[in-house]
Amino acid sequence: MIVLGIETSCDETGIALYHTEHGLLSHTLYSQTEIHNEYGGVVPELASRDHIRHVVPLIKQALKEANICLKEVNAIAYTQGPGLAGALLVGACIGSALSFALGIPVLHIHHLEGHLLSPLLSTPSPTFPFLALLVSGGHTQLIRVNDIGQYVLLGETVDDAAGEAFDKTAKLLGLDYPGGRALAALAEQGGRSSHFKLPRPMRHSGDFNFSFSGLKTAVSTLIKNHKITHQVSADIALSFQEAVIDILTEKSLSALVQTGLSQLVVAGGVGANIQLRKRLFRETTNMGATVFFPEFEFCTDNGAMIAFAGAMRVQKQGINCQQLMNSFTVRARWDLETL
Ligand code: KG4
Ligand code: ZN
Repeated sequence: MIVLGIETSCDETGIALYHTEHGLLSHTLYSQTEIHNEYGGVVPELASRDHIRHVVPLIKQALKEANICLKEVNAIAYTQGPGLAGALLVGACIGSALSFALGIPVLHIHHLEGHLLSPLLSTPSPTFPFLALLVSGGHTQLIRVNDIGQYVLLGETVDDAAGEAFDKTAKLLGLDYPGGRALAALAEQGGRSSHFKLPRPMRHSGDFNFSFSGLKTAVSTLIKNHKITHQVSADIALSFQEAVIDILTEKSLSALVQTGLSQLVVAGGVGANIQLRKRLFRETTNMGATVFFPEFEFCTDNGAMIAFAGAMRVQKQGINCQQLMNSFTVRARWDLETL
């Protein structure tokens, strides 16, 4: 069975074709970062319009790269939410239209489920149950993943997401949007992290919740009180990154201990951070656990994770074509636990 995945929840148009026996056949991606860069964040209306421009050409390209035609596709999976309503509607429209025209089922995929399952696209891959640390631009959550569709939220951020904190701090340091990657690169040039003392909010909260907005405010105060040279910026970036990594690592390890799980999956854009990967690898190995990351290209938003989540759902639950074919909706807000 071949599933066509469509991701348009934010500022990346991602398309993929996933074969339930042969794996990922192709995937294509267009990132809108240049469009939003000058505004310092995603402009929803511009995002929707740009998805419209790219979604059909990207589908054609994915089909060409997989060397198949549209009629060979057996099901469509599109991101129904959470995300920007207008952006989501583009994927919902094209997904539902193709389903109707081809007479094939359409699956409504939760964006975070796509992220959670993305490490299963690689080998070796984790087996259920596992603990997932979901760290993206919009979410920071620790989730117990018992099986496809069985997710128990253990804790989450009470304010900014980790990626959002990276982006806002990067902006304070004069870096372009989205700043996570650029801030990580700047931190590589920092050499004096201990020089700047940044807080570790909610470190001792006794639960699995996070808070990152105070960290960004602390950086803002540092910037006001120091003469900012390139080296000072790099040192601040390093201090910030280390604070975030400390918090994410400590909470993830104690969640592993408390749940008795021995596999940690890290998903979402911040999961591309090399220092976070190194630290989690080291610490989980020390405690006899295993950490799994998606391929770098599948950390940030992409169509492969949506096609894959669709394929997993079909394999697990089967699909009721009649029931699903005519529905057409998006959910800008959508709780993962309700799946
Ligand atoms: O998963 P994603 O593409 O979007 C959401 O679903 O939100 O994650 C994007 C986030 C952005 O905040 C971006 O700055 C962050 O991931 N990011 C990183 C890195 N690469 C992307 N943060 C830290 N280090 C990185 N290397
Ligand atoms: Zn995402």
